[in-house]
Amino acid sequence: MGVQKLQSDYWTTPKESGRLRRDSGAATGVASYNSFFRHIAVREQSWMGKSRLTASPPPPLKIGPLVLDPPILQAPMAGFSNYAYRQIVRRFGGAGLLATEMVSARGLLEIDTRGQGLPERLWGVQHEPRPLAVQIWENDPGVLAAIGRRLVEQLSVSVVDVNFGCPVPQVSQKAQSGSYLLRYPDRIRAILDRVVRACAPVPVTAKIRLGWTRQTINAIEVARAVEEAGAAALTVHGRTASEKFGGAADWGQIARIKPHLRRIPLIGNGDLTTPQSVVEAFRRYDVDGVMIGRAALSRPWLFRQAQAALAGEPIPPDPTLAQQRQLLLDNYRLIVEQFGPHKGTILMRRYACRYAQGCRGARTFRSHVSRVSTPDEFAQVVLRLFPSDTTV
Ligand SMILES: Cc1cc2nc3c(=O)[nH]c(=O)nc-3n(C[C@H](O)[C@H](O)[C@H](O)COP(=O)(O)O)c2cc1C
Repeated sequence: MGVQKLQSDYWTTPKESGRLRRDSGAATGVASYNSFFRHIAVREQSWMGKSRLTASPPPPLKIGPLVLDPPILQAPMAGFSNYAYRQIVRRFGGAGLLATEMVSARGLLEIDTRGQGLPERLWGVQHEPRPLAVQIWENDPGVLAAIGRRLVEQLSVSVVDVNFGCPVPQVSQKAQSGSYLLRYPDRIRAILDRVVRACAPVPVTAKIRLGWTRQTINAIEVARAVEEAGAAALTVHGRTASEKFGGAADWGQIARIKPHLRRIPLIGNGDLTTPQSVVEAFRRYDVDGVMIGRAALSRPWLFRQAQAALAGEPIPPDPTLAQQRQLLLDNYRLIVEQFGPHKGTILMRRYACRYAQGCRGARTFRSHVSRVSTPDEFAQVVLRLFPSDTTV
């Protein structure tokens, strides 16, 4: 299956939480962005802390030889956790481990066979800082093992994560992979057994959902299979595959898994949107780490805020709108670096809509930015319409 097709399908899954905005559109654009970039300086964000939450910090998270401090992970997100996003997250700090989008192991094998290098989703991986997890999906143990080994040997990734949670039909039905495999814990065991041996000594982890449906929740059984196969950590998104993104993540079900794991850490995931919710997750549920996805797409500084909250330190305030505007421009520069000015601008329409959420003028900005098709148009819209602190 084409990586791009999968990417757009993941995003357009209809039942996703309404908290995420989906934007699409087709337009053409002409590349002329150098003049625009002349005016953009990459600036580090710096903000002073104000509020403080009390908490006793959780210990660092151990995944094989890796020690992750803080025990907060950035979720793999198809179409979003690309090179640009990861650099933005890194700039703020607070995420102990970053992850790529999921990559089709079979697709990668085919690209390899044709001698075409690396898929788009692995752009930048080779040279970016570590630790970094690369997530792969497929249902064939041999294909996954071969690609896992390749990621270890040729890209020196820190963690190979295997996806057993994706509910998108192209993956879970057509390719009988992702969350489809939750119904077959023995198959998961066999897959991980091969991948763990192929990737050693680099740790292999698994990301699952609670089960296929609410009526057939089997996360404990799957967790045992994951541990027995030699995986180094388990991440659980607290929904079933059939729930997709509906309802609320069930953290009680996530925590029920913990007593059944003897050796490996449990990472909880789902609906963490504030520093307070991260502190609460550690306080109320027996998890060793947490993973944050959607909320940090529009607030990549959330990891840093959550880290401060866990440490009982002052929570840094959100960046000002001027800082967010600069961040948007930096994000654009990174996207163009990877995709080029034409495709980069089209893609950026979707990413730009994450910025300035909840601010006065954000709607107007979004309605215009979602229609730009050239770098010049993008620059014009950002300069003219991005909300400023004086309009708040
Ligand atoms: C657009 C989108 C893309 C996603 N892509 C992936 C992916 O590639 N691999 C994966 O394991 N999970 C993927 N997920 C699921 C997230 O990693 C995460 O488990 C889920 O969003 C719940 O966490 P959150 O409530 O913090 O967002 C995706 C979710 C969304 C909304």
